[in-house]
Amino acid sequence: MSFEVREGEILGLIGPNGSGKTTAFNCISGALAPSGGSVRFNGEEIGGRTPDAICHRGLARTFQIPRPFRKLSILENVAVAAHFGATTRVGESAARARAREILALVGLPATDDASTTTLGAGGLKKLELARALATAPKLLLADESLGGLDSSEMAGAAELLRRIRGELGVTIVWVEHIMATLMRVVDRVVVLDHGEKIAEGKPREVAEDPRVIEAYLGEKVVLA
Ligand SMILES: Nc1ncnc2c1ncn2[C@@H]1O[C@H](COP(=O)(O)OP(=O)(O)OP(=O)(O)O)[C@@H](O)[C@H]1O
Ligand SMILES: [Mg+2]
Repeated sequence: MSFEVREGEILGLIGPNGSGKTTAFNCISGALAPSGGSVRFNGEEIGGRTPDAICHRGLARTFQIPRPFRKLSILENVAVAAHFGATTRVGESAARARAREILALVGLPATDDASTTTLGAGGLKKLELARALATAPKLLLADESLGGLDSSEMAGAAELLRRIRGELGVTIVWVEHIMATLMRVVDRVVVLDHGEKIAEGKPREVAEDPRVIEAYLGEKVVLA
């Protein structure tokens, strides 16, 4: 597969279960070392570099299955990410101040003791986003899976991604199965099937592409 994301865009990455969306994110973000090919970020080859080195260049990802540090507070989880993303050593109070700003943006409690155990599925997704954003990325790979959220939580998640681009100027690649939500937000879509790109284009073109309907959508998605 080969695709590019342009600065300032929200790119949707879609495809059936097991088509390779998360594997692609793992190769780009350094969680897996690619066995071939090339991954370039701002013109620099980053394929095979370590996750921290890639993060320090301004590329962050969320994980499809959230696994916060359960013994740390919400604030501490995000402060840890701020430390991880900093290229020079930052003090604990600066890391916490950054964490509070990010938590306010995503809409989670930023008190010293608010616990991760209070978070439901939607809250854990917000915490994943907050941890990624605390590293100050230019490009965010969001592996969302909003399944399990109710429709207002899903709309909120979509609105949040728009604000992350608008207010923080972050370019986004968004993986999500809820097509009606994703298609309303993204500028372009790339479609994977069995590890290969089968389509790419504007949401409307992709939603009407017979190969995409056959491999993934099953039926035409009606776009408002
Ligand atoms: N190099 C490879 N060769 C063959 N199979 C691979 C290779 N790398 C990964 N896989 C397999 O391909 C599948 C890709 O799964 P992945 O989790 O990336 O899919 P996904 O699109 O994120 O699915 P979901 O929508 O369920 O999250 C996995 O079963 C993985 O083990
Ligand atoms: Mg996945």
